[in-house]
Amino acid sequence: MKLLSQTLCLCLALALCLADHHTGHDHGGMPGKHMDHQHGKKEGHEHSLHAGGILNRCRGLEMDAVAVNEDGVPYFFKGDHVFKGFHGQAELSNASFAELDDHHHLGHVDAAFRMHYEDNPTQHDHIFFFLNEKVFSYYKHKLEVGFPKNISEVFPGIPDHLDAAVVCPKPDCDEDSVIFFKGDEIYHYNVRTKKVEEKEFNSMPNCTSAFRYAEHYYCFHGHQFSKFDPKTGDVHGRYPKEARDYFMKCARFGNTTDHLEREQCSRVHLDAITADDAGNIHAFRGHYFLEKDAETEKWTADPVEKDFKELHSNPDAVFTYENHLYMAKGSKMYVYTATEPHTLLAGYPKPLKDEIGLDAPIDAAFVCQDKHIAHVLKGENVYDIDLKASPRVPVKDVPFTSIRNIDTAMCGPKGVTVFKGNYFYHFESLNVMLMSKLIPEPHVIAMELFGCDH
Ligand SMILES: *[C@@H]1O[C@H](CO)[C@@H](O)[C@H](O)[C@H]1NC(C)=O
Ligand SMILES: *[C@@H]1O[C@H](CO)[C@@H](O)[C@H](O)[C@H]1NC(C)=O
Ligand SMILES: *[C@@H]1O[C@H](CO)[C@@H](O)[C@H](O)[C@H]1NC(C)=O
Ligand SMILES: *[C@@H]1O[C@H](CO)[C@@H](O)[C@H](O)[C@H]1NC(C)=O
Repeated sequence: MKLLSQTLCLCLALALCLADHHTGHDHGGMPGKHMDHQHGKKEGHEHSLHAGGILNRCRGLEMDAVAVNEDGVPYFFKGDHVFKGFHGQAELSNASFAELDDHHHLGHVDAAFRMHYEDNPTQHDHIFFFLNEKVFSYYKHKLEVGFPKNISEVFPGIPDHLDAAVVCPKPDCDEDSVIFFKGDEIYHYNVRTKKVEEKEFNSMPNCTSAFRYAEHYYCFHGHQFSKFDPKTGDVHGRYPKEARDYFMKCARFGNTTDHLEREQCSRVHLDAITADDAGNIHAFRGHYFLEKDAETEKWTADPVEKDFKELHSNPDAVFTYENHLYMAKGSKMYVYTATEPHTLLAGYPKPLKDEIGLDAPIDAAFVCQDKHIAHVLKGENVYDIDLKASPRVPVKDVPFTSIRNIDTAMCGPKGVTVFKGNYFYHFESLNVMLMSKLIPEPHVIAMELFGCDH
């Protein structure tokens, strides 16, 4: 891969190399909207990010490498910058990984991945970066003693100047492996025996980066990607697709006109979701929302602005109560009619604090069937608010600690569903959820809720 200069950034080749997101304990560890709060911003800045040479990934920016950190947050590397999570501004990479600069001032990363094999304790959860002929191993953001080393020393048989790397555990690969990519050459590196097997992935384009995500393997080439079989390199289905549409959270997308397919299959976390007693669902993500009609069981997708003009985008939490959608965004509460056309009630938006007695921001809120209590999650705290009371006063319930940093939650006829990153988790009831010490089986949102077929 070439050295990429920031001024040329919008025209150069993509290398998006997202490290593994293993099937283990870090299920659902994708960044939620907590990232937004940390960074103190929302997507509103995207349009101007390009100005003055500042990187804007929503303009079809092509990344050099990607690695998922120990908390499941993907770091997208571009030139000497890194984007943390699915949206937000770039930071200098050397602020997080100082030594990447020391030896060469290369200003770019060829490939990166996070090792995730628990029976390999010396490398488990280490993030490896590949720069020309060197490999850097970081553990908890600290460079491991003795690094950087020659790639040939640490991964014998693997060439210099790589394009991409991805972890491939059994049984996805025959052995616990790392797959390295350079041009059209593919190397399966056995983590245990250090044996290297060269493969030909004939039906796949040259990957500039690769990524294992929700148990699927993605090859990025240019600003597009294809899903592939890690054993054979076979690509099934309609690929390539535009990376921006599926792995970035942008106000505007590439050339996609099929909003429904993109929103059903996007891997970006949800902002808010709500179900009514009949089973109609509204799910919000960035500037779009998905709606499921309980009778036809069909999903539709539309811009938030089209149906909820005043809210515009990015609600923090939404709940359904007495045929109205209560939508919290920052310090305001919007109340719309639940049926179309969605009409904002007179006098709204009102201060969130006046409506539910809590300070912004809130993380999730839901009302369970036939009840008039709103359950609001704010950090680990759960508040119960009697919606019939005036004024409404939040009463602290027991905290919810089994899943941290959730994105959103909803309550339907079958219980409470909690959403985090790519996954949702089902609890029979609010009480079961609050009492549970175990994390229930994770389900992939795109496939198992929205019906994405790939
Ligand atoms: C980090 O990188 C920037 C731009 O490449 C450079 O100007 C700065 O001196 C670097 N900082 C450190 C601490 O190396
Ligand atoms: C690393 O590679 C360089 C250049 O090929 C070589 O000179 C050096 O001896 C190598 N270092 C080790 C520790 O093998
Ligand atoms: C893929 O990489 C090989 C070198 O390994 C190169 O010859 C070929 O032109 C590349 N293909 C494309 C489409 O870039
Ligand atoms: C897609 O967008 C690119 C860049 O904006 C443009 O050059 C290209 O013509 C578009 N393709 C289609 C099919 O609209």
